[in-house]
Amino acid sequence: MEVDIEKYEAENFRKLDKIIAQYKEQRGMLIRILQKSQEVFGYLPLKVQAYIAEKLDIPISTVNGVVSFYSLFSQEPQGKYTVSVCLGTACYVKGAQEILEAIKKELQIDVGETTMDNLFTLKATRCIGACGLAPVITINDDIYGRLTPADIPSILYKYTSADKKARVTH
Ligand code: FES
Repeated sequence: MEVDIEKYEAENFRKLDKIIAQYKEQRGMLIRILQKSQEVFGYLPLKVQAYIAEKLDIPISTVNGVVSFYSLFSQEPQGKYTVSVCLGTACYVKGAQEILEAIKKELQIDVGETTMDNLFTLKATRCIGACGLAPVITINDDIYGRLTPADIPSILYKYTSADKKARVTH
């Protein structure tokens, strides 16, 4: 199925208008609006930030300041799956660096990058509070622990093949 990008984008901006209207009067509304907008667009490109600034009648520097400050916001397109490798002390001691290297090799990307097919984004994180399972990675909401580099290809393959199946059944 071919996607009409312009139509898709116009639809997203209509959703953004609704979000702004819904949260405009609330306290802490900027963060809320940015969170919801990121859910719609997948990330927060500059044109979305500019649109929000204009609608709220605030400087774009204020909006960009918030987006840049909080790590939950992204200004770059993100993959469907975010692979986060914990580099906290416990994980580091148990070989997190080797896990990270195995993922980089498998996906052919570096930390902060997204694969060409937009399926995976690779991130390094601090302790996620699952030290007993070190070394730990998360892929979206899934947690994998006590890993060795040899586990990585099959774990990633689960997501690659799930995505293929999803595309075939749609
Ligand atoms: S150091 Fe990795 S979960 Fe705590």
